[in-house]
Amino acid sequence: MNLPFSIAITSNEICLLPAAQHLAEKNFLPYIDFQESKNFDYILILSSTGLHLEDVKKKLGSLKIDFLQGRLAYRLNHLQNQKQLLARAIGLKPDFKPQILDATAGLGSDSFILAQLGCPIILLERSPIIFLLLQDALERALGHPKFLSLSVKLIKIEALTYLKQITSNLHSFPEVIYLDPMYPHSSKTALAKKEMRFLRHLVGDDADAPNLLKLAIICAKQRVVVKRPRLSQYLANVKPQYSLFGKQHRLDVYLTLFNH
Ligand SMILES: C[S@@+](CC[C@H](N)C(=O)[O-])C[C@H]1O[C@@H](n2cnc3c(N)ncnc32)[C@H](O)[C@@H]1O
Repeated sequence: MNLPFSIAITSNEICLLPAAQHLAEKNFLPYIDFQESKNFDYILILSSTGLHLEDVKKKLGSLKIDFLQGRLAYRLNHLQNQKQLLARAIGLKPDFKPQILDATAGLGSDSFILAQLGCPIILLERSPIIFLLLQDALERALGHPKFLSLSVKLIKIEALTYLKQITSNLHSFPEVIYLDPMYPHSSKTALAKKEMRFLRHLVGDDADAPNLLKLAIICAKQRVVVKRPRLSQYLANVKPQYSLFGKQHRLDVYLTLFNH
Protein backbone atom coordinates (compact mmCIF):
# COMPACT_ATOMS: atom_id res chain seq x y z
CA MET A 1 0.00 0.00 0.00
CA ASN A 2 1.29 3.46 -0.87
CA LEU A 3 0.40 5.69 2.10
CA PRO A 4 1.75 9.03 3.38
CA PHE A 5 2.33 7.49 6.85
CA SER A 6 3.82 4.27 8.18
CA ILE A 7 1.44 1.57 9.35
CA ALA A 8 1.69 -2.10 10.29
CA ILE A 9 -0.58 -4.88 11.50
CA THR A 10 -0.13 -6.85 14.70
CA SER A 11 -2.03 -8.67 17.41
CA ASN A 12 -1.44 -9.03 21.13
CA GLU A 13 -3.36 -12.34 21.30
CA ILE A 14 -1.37 -15.46 20.44
CA CYS A 15 -4.29 -17.30 18.84
CA LEU A 16 -4.88 -14.38 16.45
CA LEU A 17 -1.31 -14.05 15.18
CA PRO A 18 -1.94 -16.17 12.03
CA ALA A 19 -5.10 -14.15 11.25
CA ALA A 20 -3.23 -10.86 11.73
CA GLN A 21 -0.42 -12.13 9.47
CA HIS A 22 -2.95 -13.16 6.82
CA LEU A 23 -4.66 -9.74 7.00
CA ALA A 24 -1.28 -8.02 6.59
CA GLU A 25 -0.34 -10.13 3.56
CA LYS A 26 -3.74 -9.67 1.93
CA ASN A 27 -3.49 -5.90 2.25
CA PHE A 28 0.23 -5.57 1.43
CA LEU A 29 0.97 -4.17 4.90
CA PRO A 30 3.92 -5.12 7.12
CA TYR A 31 3.15 -7.62 9.86
CA ILE A 32 5.07 -6.94 13.08
CA ASP A 33 5.53 -8.13 16.64
CA PHE A 34 3.50 -6.07 19.08
CA GLN A 35 6.78 -4.77 20.67
CA GLU A 36 7.85 -3.14 17.39
CA SER A 37 4.79 -0.85 17.35
CA LYS A 38 6.72 2.28 18.34
CA ASN A 39 8.53 2.32 14.99
CA PHE A 40 5.32 3.14 13.10
CA ASP A 41 2.90 6.09 12.91
CA TYR A 42 -0.13 3.79 13.17
CA ILE A 43 -0.74 0.20 14.16
CA LEU A 44 -3.76 -1.90 13.26
CA ILE A 45 -4.34 -4.30 16.13
CA LEU A 46 -6.42 -7.43 15.68
CA SER A 47 -8.03 -8.67 18.87
CA SER A 48 -10.88 -11.00 19.74
CA THR A 49 -13.20 -7.97 19.98
CA GLY A 50 -12.30 -6.74 16.49
CA LEU A 51 -9.81 -4.56 14.64
CA HIS A 52 -8.72 -1.18 15.93
CA LEU A 53 -6.25 1.48 14.91
CA GLU A 54 -3.75 2.89 17.41
CA ASP A 55 -2.12 6.21 16.74
CA VAL A 56 1.42 5.73 18.00
CA LYS A 57 2.97 9.14 17.29
CA LYS A 58 0.30 11.85 17.42
CA LYS A 59 -1.38 10.46 20.53
CA LEU A 60 -4.93 10.62 19.17
CA GLY A 61 -5.69 7.39 21.03
CA SER A 62 -7.37 4.52 19.24
CA LEU A 63 -10.11 4.22 16.65
CA LYS A 64 -12.51 1.32 16.39
CA ILE A 65 -15.81 1.23 14.54
CA ASP A 66 -18.42 -0.66 16.50
CA PHE A 67 -22.13 -0.71 15.69
CA LEU A 68 -22.94 -3.15 18.50
CA GLN A 69 -21.61 -1.47 21.63
CA GLY A 70 -19.83 1.63 22.89
CA ARG A 71 -20.23 5.31 22.08
CA LEU A 72 -20.95 5.01 18.34
CA ALA A 73 -23.58 2.28 18.87
CA TYR A 74 -25.21 4.32 21.63
CA ARG A 75 -25.35 7.40 19.41
CA LEU A 76 -26.82 5.43 16.51
CA ASN A 77 -29.61 4.15 18.76
CA HIS A 78 -30.41 7.54 20.24
CA LEU A 79 -30.18 9.97 17.34
CA GLN A 80 -33.89 10.22 16.58
CA ASN A 81 -33.62 13.71 15.06
CA GLN A 82 -30.75 12.71 12.80
CA LYS A 83 -32.65 9.61 11.67
CA GLN A 84 -35.72 11.66 10.82
CA LEU A 85 -33.65 14.25 8.99
CA LEU A 86 -31.87 11.57 6.92
CA ALA A 87 -35.19 9.82 6.21
CA ARG A 88 -36.71 13.07 4.90
CA ALA A 89 -33.62 13.93 2.87
CA ILE A 90 -33.55 10.61 1.01
CA GLY A 91 -37.33 10.76 0.41
CA LEU A 92 -38.17 7.67 2.51
CA LYS A 93 -41.85 6.69 2.53
CA PRO A 94 -43.62 3.65 4.02
CA ASP A 95 -43.80 2.15 0.53
CA PHE A 96 -40.56 3.59 -0.85
CA LYS A 97 -37.18 2.57 0.55
CA PRO A 98 -34.70 3.73 -2.08
CA GLN A 99 -31.49 1.92 -2.99
CA ILE A 100 -28.71 4.17 -1.77
CA LEU A 101 -25.11 4.55 -2.82
CA ASP A 102 -23.08 6.12 0.00
CA ALA A 103 -20.08 7.26 -2.03
CA THR A 104 -18.15 8.53 1.03
CA ALA A 105 -18.62 5.76 3.60
CA GLY A 106 -16.12 6.86 6.29
CA LEU A 107 -17.06 5.36 9.64
CA GLY A 108 -20.33 4.14 8.15
CA SER A 109 -22.61 5.70 10.75
CA ASP A 110 -24.91 7.50 8.31
CA SER A 111 -25.09 4.36 6.15
CA PHE A 112 -25.89 2.19 9.13
CA ILE A 113 -28.79 4.48 10.03
CA LEU A 114 -30.02 4.39 6.43
CA ALA A 115 -29.77 0.58 6.35
CA GLN A 116 -31.73 0.38 9.59
CA LEU A 117 -34.41 2.52 7.95
CA GLY A 118 -34.81 -0.40 5.53
CA CYS A 119 -32.84 0.90 2.52
CA PRO A 120 -30.50 -1.42 0.61
CA ILE A 121 -27.16 0.34 0.63
CA ILE A 122 -23.79 0.15 -1.11
CA LEU A 123 -20.91 1.91 0.63
CA LEU A 124 -17.79 3.10 -1.19
CA GLU A 125 -14.58 3.92 0.65
CA ARG A 126 -11.22 4.73 -0.92
CA SER A 127 -9.04 4.89 2.20
CA PRO A 128 -7.65 1.36 2.64
CA ILE A 129 -7.31 1.82 6.41
CA ILE A 130 -10.82 3.18 6.98
CA PHE A 131 -12.07 0.41 4.67
CA LEU A 132 -10.46 -2.31 6.84
CA LEU A 133 -11.90 -0.85 10.05
CA LEU A 134 -15.36 -0.49 8.51
CA GLN A 135 -15.27 -3.95 6.94
CA ASP A 136 -14.45 -5.45 10.34
CA ALA A 137 -17.24 -3.47 12.06
CA LEU A 138 -19.82 -4.42 9.43
CA GLU A 139 -18.89 -8.11 9.52
CA ARG A 140 -19.39 -8.17 13.29
CA ALA A 141 -22.62 -6.13 13.19
CA LEU A 142 -24.27 -7.94 10.28
CA GLY A 143 -23.71 -11.30 11.99
CA HIS A 144 -25.78 -10.10 14.94
CA PRO A 145 -29.41 -11.37 14.97
CA LYS A 146 -30.67 -7.78 15.30
CA PHE A 147 -29.12 -6.76 11.98
CA LEU A 148 -29.32 -9.95 9.88
CA SER A 149 -31.94 -8.44 7.58
CA LEU A 150 -29.92 -5.34 6.66
CA SER A 151 -28.79 -5.10 3.05
CA VAL A 152 -25.29 -3.59 3.19
CA LYS A 153 -22.38 -3.99 0.79
CA LEU A 154 -19.00 -2.29 1.22
CA ILE A 155 -16.62 -1.77 -1.70
CA LYS A 156 -13.05 -0.46 -1.56
CA ILE A 157 -12.93 1.89 -4.52
CA GLU A 158 -12.54 5.51 -5.53
CA ALA A 159 -16.12 6.71 -5.96
CA LEU A 160 -15.35 8.65 -9.15
CA THR A 161 -14.09 5.42 -10.71
CA TYR A 162 -17.20 3.53 -9.57
CA LEU A 163 -19.55 6.17 -10.95
CA LYS A 164 -17.69 6.33 -14.27
CA GLN A 165 -18.00 2.53 -14.52
CA ILE A 166 -21.78 2.59 -14.06
CA THR A 167 -22.50 5.50 -16.41
CA SER A 168 -22.75 3.09 -19.35
CA ASN A 169 -25.53 1.08 -17.68
CA LEU A 170 -28.65 3.02 -16.73
CA HIS A 171 -30.02 0.00 -14.82
CA SER A 172 -27.19 0.09 -12.31
CA PHE A 173 -27.83 3.75 -11.40
CA PRO A 174 -28.75 4.01 -7.70
CA GLU A 175 -31.94 5.81 -6.74
CA VAL A 176 -30.17 8.01 -4.21
CA ILE A 177 -26.51 8.97 -3.89
CA TYR A 178 -25.39 10.17 -0.48
CA LEU A 179 -22.24 12.28 -0.10
CA ASP A 180 -20.53 13.35 3.10
CA PRO A 181 -17.02 14.45 2.13
CA MET A 182 -14.66 15.78 4.81
CA TYR A 183 -15.68 19.20 6.03
CA PRO A 184 -13.46 22.22 5.37
CA HIS A 185 -10.77 22.81 8.01
CA SER A 186 -12.63 25.66 9.64
CA SER A 187 -15.48 23.43 10.88
CA LYS A 188 -14.93 23.34 14.64
CA THR A 189 -17.86 20.96 15.26
CA ALA A 190 -16.38 18.21 13.17
CA LEU A 191 -12.84 18.66 14.43
CA ALA A 192 -13.95 18.43 18.05
CA LYS A 193 -14.70 14.73 17.68
CA LYS A 194 -11.87 12.24 18.07
CA GLU A 195 -13.10 10.18 15.12
CA MET A 196 -13.04 13.23 12.86
CA ARG A 197 -9.48 14.07 13.92
CA PHE A 198 -8.46 10.53 12.99
CA LEU A 199 -10.22 10.82 9.64
CA ARG A 200 -8.51 14.14 8.97
CA HIS A 201 -5.07 12.55 9.56
CA LEU A 202 -5.84 9.44 7.54
CA VAL A 203 -7.77 10.74 4.54
CA GLY A 204 -7.09 14.50 4.33
CA ASP A 205 -9.53 16.99 2.87
CA ASP A 206 -11.47 15.29 0.05
CA ALA A 207 -10.64 18.24 -2.21
CA ASP A 208 -12.13 16.39 -5.21
CA ALA A 209 -15.63 16.40 -3.69
CA PRO A 210 -16.98 18.99 -6.20
CA ASN A 211 -16.26 16.55 -9.08
CA LEU A 212 -18.00 13.79 -7.16
CA LEU A 213 -21.14 15.88 -6.80
CA LYS A 214 -21.23 16.71 -10.51
CA LEU A 215 -20.96 13.04 -11.49
CA ALA A 216 -23.40 11.95 -8.78
CA ILE A 217 -26.04 14.33 -10.16
CA ILE A 218 -25.73 12.55 -13.52
CA CYS A 219 -25.93 9.04 -12.00
CA ALA A 220 -28.60 9.28 -9.27
CA LYS A 221 -32.04 8.27 -10.54
CA GLN A 222 -33.93 10.31 -7.94
CA ARG A 223 -31.71 12.55 -5.87
CA VAL A 224 -28.30 13.34 -4.41
CA VAL A 225 -28.07 14.26 -0.74
CA VAL A 226 -24.99 16.13 0.50
CA LYS A 227 -24.14 16.57 4.17
CA ARG A 228 -22.48 19.90 4.94
CA PRO A 229 -21.66 22.03 7.98
CA ARG A 230 -24.76 24.04 8.90
CA LEU A 231 -23.67 27.39 7.48
CA SER A 232 -21.10 26.39 4.86
CA GLN A 233 -21.23 27.18 1.14
CA TYR A 234 -22.91 24.72 -1.18
CA LEU A 235 -20.58 22.00 -2.41
CA ALA A 236 -19.09 23.05 -5.78
CA ASN A 237 -21.27 26.18 -5.44
CA VAL A 238 -24.13 24.16 -6.93
CA LYS A 239 -27.43 25.24 -5.39
CA PRO A 240 -29.66 22.36 -4.25
CA GLN A 241 -33.45 22.35 -4.71
CA TYR A 242 -33.76 22.56 -0.92
CA SER A 243 -31.89 22.02 2.34
CA LEU A 244 -32.85 20.42 5.64
CA PHE A 245 -31.22 21.76 8.80
CA GLY A 246 -30.10 19.68 11.79
CA LYS A 247 -28.45 20.99 14.94
CA GLN A 248 -24.91 20.57 13.63
CA HIS A 249 -25.20 20.05 9.92
CA ARG A 250 -27.29 20.62 6.83
CA LEU A 251 -28.49 18.15 4.22
CA ASP A 252 -28.62 19.62 0.70
CA VAL A 253 -31.03 17.80 -1.60
CA TYR A 254 -30.49 17.77 -5.40
CA LEU A 255 -33.45 16.30 -7.24
CA THR A 256 -32.36 14.48 -10.38
CA LEU A 257 -35.51 12.72 -11.53
CA PHE A 258 -35.82 15.14 -14.46
CA ASN A 259 -32.35 14.10 -15.74
CA HIS A 260 -33.43 10.57 -16.66
C1 LIG B 1 -16.55 12.63 6.51
S1 LIG B 1 -16.21 10.97 6.14
C2 LIG B 1 -17.81 10.26 5.99
C3 LIG B 1 -18.45 10.00 7.30
C4 LIG B 1 -19.67 9.11 7.18
N1 LIG B 1 -20.78 9.79 6.55
C5 LIG B 1 -20.09 8.55 8.51
O1 LIG B 1 -21.29 8.61 8.84
O2 LIG B 1 -19.22 8.03 9.23
C6 LIG B 1 -15.69 10.99 4.46
C7 LIG B 1 -15.15 9.64 3.98
O3 LIG B 1 -15.35 9.56 2.58
C8 LIG B 1 -14.22 9.01 1.97
N2 LIG B 1 -14.18 9.56 0.60
C9 LIG B 1 -14.14 10.86 0.25
N3 LIG B 1 -14.13 11.02 -1.09
C10 LIG B 1 -14.18 9.76 -1.60
C11 LIG B 1 -14.19 9.25 -2.92
N4 LIG B 1 -14.12 10.06 -3.99
N5 LIG B 1 -14.24 7.90 -3.10
C12 LIG B 1 -14.30 7.07 -2.03
N6 LIG B 1 -14.28 7.49 -0.73
C13 LIG B 1 -14.22 8.82 -0.52
C14 LIG B 1 -13.06 9.47 2.81
O4 LIG B 1 -11.94 8.60 2.65
C15 LIG B 1 -13.66 9.42 4.22
O5 LIG B 1 -13.44 8.18 4.81
